[in-house]
Amino acid sequence: MQSFTFQCPTEIVFGPGAELKTAEKIRKYGGHHVYIVYGGGSVIKNGLLARVEQCLTSEGLAFEVLGGVQPNPRLSLAREGVREALAFHADFILAIGGGSVIDTAKAIAHGVANPGTDIWDFWSGKVPLTKTTPVGAVLTISAAGSETSDSSVITNEEIGKKAGLNTDLNRPAVAFMNPELTFTLPKKQIACGVCDILMHTLERYFTPVKGNHFTDLIAEALIKNVMENGRIAFVNRKDYDAMSEIMWCGTISHNGLTEIGRMKDFSVHKLGHELGGRFDVTHGASLTTLWGSWARYVYQDDPERFAQYAERIWSVDSGTAEERARAGIRKTEEFFRELEMPTNFTELGIGVQPKETIEYLADMCTGNDTKKLGCFHPLDKKAAMEIYQMANK
Ligand code: NZQ
Ligand code: ZN
Repeated sequence: MQSFTFQCPTEIVFGPGAELKTAEKIRKYGGHHVYIVYGGGSVIKNGLLARVEQCLTSEGLAFEVLGGVQPNPRLSLAREGVREALAFHADFILAIGGGSVIDTAKAIAHGVANPGTDIWDFWSGKVPLTKTTPVGAVLTISAAGSETSDSSVITNEEIGKKAGLNTDLNRPAVAFMNPELTFTLPKKQIACGVCDILMHTLERYFTPVKGNHFTDLIAEALIKNVMENGRIAFVNRKDYDAMSEIMWCGTISHNGLTEIGRMKDFSVHKLGHELGGRFDVTHGASLTTLWGSWARYVYQDDPERFAQYAERIWSVDSGTAEERARAGIRKTEEFFRELEMPTNFTELGIGVQPKETIEYLADMCTGNDTKKLGCFHPLDKKAAMEIYQMANK
């Protein structure tokens, strides 16, 4: 096991009515002027925004509201949020939504704390982030894990680049997690969320660092649990127990716990972000589109590791390590298809792409072949092109 530091300071309020604790907790974290951020309108339709506003009003907290965050959240809206939140003297940013809304709230929080800096400078790495503003998240979809993660992913639509910023300053102060809020999710979003959670765990499981038995066991339990409950939720989105399990798995999948003592890979996420930046596809779908191709490209680096995954998750116990490894990859893709998730470009809805686009995507994620992706099998531009090409059917 590698040496590590682990800090996950987000306070979690979990269960029915969690959103009614917003005012109390915002006060606890020093908020008086609350800047609320939400998405395309689901929280208006289901009455959640009104409930939270009522809660803040009854506790005498001032608030302003910014709606319109899109999936693959845009930099321009975050910049607008920074300007408005500064004018309002916001001291707490409250996200009501999923990963896109929470990531926008994090971006606004950074902008409010650093008024002289363009927020994209933090994502491009030009300026290091040293301070921020407290963020709270009322979670409405189990998927990205942004409610406790150290990450925020923003799309700069001017240059077609989707980029992540990782820093402990991205961890929200408090997350309100009421599984009932996910009952209104469309089937597709449930499936995308389940697969994203699965992928956060797999992208940490396939690591070159040996040992870590306990971390493996946590990851394997999470993978089995999210798949089992994902199947239930896919046919009955109002199953409270299934939605609770998925919600908690989503948080644990991306708060760093399944990465303890090892390095995370995350190359499929990076390859997938380029599909998000270029084609505006749903995040979870970009990952299932590429994972099988990535796995087939890299598994020979450590077939035993893939065979362990196949045995412990899919009960594949016969054949050579290589045969078991391939069976595990095949069964994972079968699970994606069971949830009607894509496993290639055509199923993703973008069609077969010309060679120039494949090269463009590979250039974007490897910085024109100046950096490698991941650690299980570090990918250069050529490798990235080959993986995209394997999924390009
Ligand atoms: O915008 P509204 O109308 O709210 O609709 C949303 C949106 O269309 C809908 N939705 C959410 N909750 C709902 C609901 N519809 C009905 N009922 C509800 N309760 O779902 C759609 C997707 O929302 P989004 O926030 O985009 O989903 P998700 O949580 O999957 O977030 C995806 C974004 O997070 C990033 C992704 O790249 C993507 O941009 N990620 C962020 C991470 C992080 N910060 O740690 C890690 C992830 O790996 C990921 O990269
Ligand atoms: Zn993800």
